[in-house]
Amino acid sequence: MAARCTETVLAALGLLSVCAASSSGSGTSGKAGGEAEWAEPWDGAVFRPPAALGAVGVARGLESLPPGSRDTVDLPVLLWWSPGLFPHFPGDSERIECTRGACVASRDRRARADPRTRALLFYGTDFRAADAPLPRLAHQSWALLHEESPLNNFLLSHGPGIRLFNLTATFSRHSDYPLPLQWLPGVAYLRRPAPPLRERAEWRRRGYAPLLYLQSHCDVPGDRDRYVRELMRYIPVDSYGKCLQNRQLPTMRLQDTATATTEDPELLTFLSRYKFHLALENAICNDYMTEKLWRPMHLGAVPVYRGSPSVRDWMPNNHSIILIDDFESPQKLAEFIDFLDKNDEEYMKYLAYKRPGGITNQFLLDSLEHREWGVNDPRLPNYLNGFECFVCDHELARLEAEKAHASSPGDIPVPKPHIAQPSHMNCPMPTPGFGKVEEIPENDSWKEMWLQDYWQGLYQGEALTAMIHNNETEQSKFWDYVHQIFMKRNKNR
Ligand SMILES: *[C@@H]1O[C@H](CO)[C@@H](O)[C@H](O)[C@H]1NC(C)=O
Ligand SMILES: *[C@@H]1O[C@H](CO)[C@@H](O)[C@H](O)[C@H]1NC(C)=O
Ligand SMILES: *[C@@H]1O[C@H](CO)[C@@H](O)[C@H](O)[C@H]1NC(C)=O
Ligand SMILES: *[C@@H]1O[C@H](CO)[C@@H](O)[C@H](O)[C@H]1NC(C)=O
Repeated sequence: MAARCTETVLAALGLLSVCAASSSGSGTSGKAGGEAEWAEPWDGAVFRPPAALGAVGVARGLESLPPGSRDTVDLPVLLWWSPGLFPHFPGDSERIECTRGACVASRDRRARADPRTRALLFYGTDFRAADAPLPRLAHQSWALLHEESPLNNFLLSHGPGIRLFNLTATFSRHSDYPLPLQWLPGVAYLRRPAPPLRERAEWRRRGYAPLLYLQSHCDVPGDRDRYVRELMRYIPVDSYGKCLQNRQLPTMRLQDTATATTEDPELLTFLSRYKFHLALENAICNDYMTEKLWRPMHLGAVPVYRGSPSVRDWMPNNHSIILIDDFESPQKLAEFIDFLDKNDEEYMKYLAYKRPGGITNQFLLDSLEHREWGVNDPRLPNYLNGFECFVCDHELARLEAEKAHASSPGDIPVPKPHIAQPSHMNCPMPTPGFGKVEEIPENDSWKEMWLQDYWQGLYQGEALTAMIHNNETEQSKFWDYVHQIFMKRNKNR
């Protein structure tokens, strides 16, 4: 399972060929070993082609030097505990040049106990509390890369889980190496002109609905289908994915998610016939925004969005998307969409950001300009290599601070610990897509799956914290801890 997820993110980052080449035969195409249980076809996560992020490994320094060879003997080692993400090829170790100096990046787990190994790097999706490297060594930072939603790992959505880490790269603007705009290549992507309204009017006359829904991952923490099903009672929605499907994509090639990717030009042209795209994230977290939001804007459609509660902060102007949660009911939302559908002048106001000077959100413009990693930008590293260097620089600074303290302990204090915070992965408890949780039957699959997962994530974080605290090494004790915590909470309820 871990390997599958790893391949998935590699595909997402355009690194799959590296993975395939180095992991003897498994996963030789863009299809990540069949449909991973959390994969979202049409979401892009699985099928995003290399072009979407491009430029892999522009990172600095490509000579392969194993730790221990002369030039690397004193360098801090960064150990990728999730080996599939190791962003270098070929080999298991590589000297990297960063802003403050050099480090050795490695995926050789034998380096774990090496005193030079200063940081372990984990990928959130395959971080499992029951397999964490214990006992935790006091001189090592734990660094977390998790650009995905909590769908894959609710441990990270709770204080005890996230506080196990020292450095983070997540979708949250509050993380140490923030990736909120991971799906937005740049302003030009937003400025692409919209198709003429009369073309869309023609599609409407031929029987197309005003609204598009395209989702094939149906049971998700965000519970989006429950909302969309209700909305469909009040306004026509053409739904092409596996969820709530009521239409077929026009050609066999487009229907096959393995051949037509989310970036497929023919698919994009087809999707741009629609004036409104339902855009509901798989989970609700501050700053978690994906291609579901940006792609409609690229295509000149208006996203009807539910996802990051802080999404307004990132919009090109204050009138560019429709927020589902601004409406008291699906019926009211449907009425508003119907109004815009019949009123071109009001509709076009939502596309004003495409005109020259139309992007007025300085925070968005600054964030795009100042980020150190790129999306499909050959001048910048991708965020895997970027984060690796961020960790390297952090560890070089920490070593320096430790040395300074050691040389004059009276004057210079011990460097302060750096610990991740819940705001780095800010995803509250999942709530139903529509209606109240008490009104949903106990055997509902969303209720059974996601609420349980959510609480399991908390118990697992607490159990792992306890094990670290007690310097436990025996992984078999892990589930005993989880059980104890569960029992204690049940008693207190
Ligand atoms: C939206 O932007 C317009 C024009 O810049 C401004 O007049 C208006 O007050 C803004 N509205 C909100 C809710 O910020
Ligand atoms: C890393 O985080 C842990 C808490 O999980 C903390 O105890 C430790 O001091 C931190 N280490 C560094 C180097 O900041
Ligand atoms: C849930 O329970 C109700 C009543 O017991 C039953 O009618 C329904 O089929 C069940 N639904 C599922 C998804 O099992
Ligand atoms: C954990 O326990 C082992 C063996 O019991 C001991 O060698 C090691 O120093 C301990 N580590 C920490 C961080 O306390």
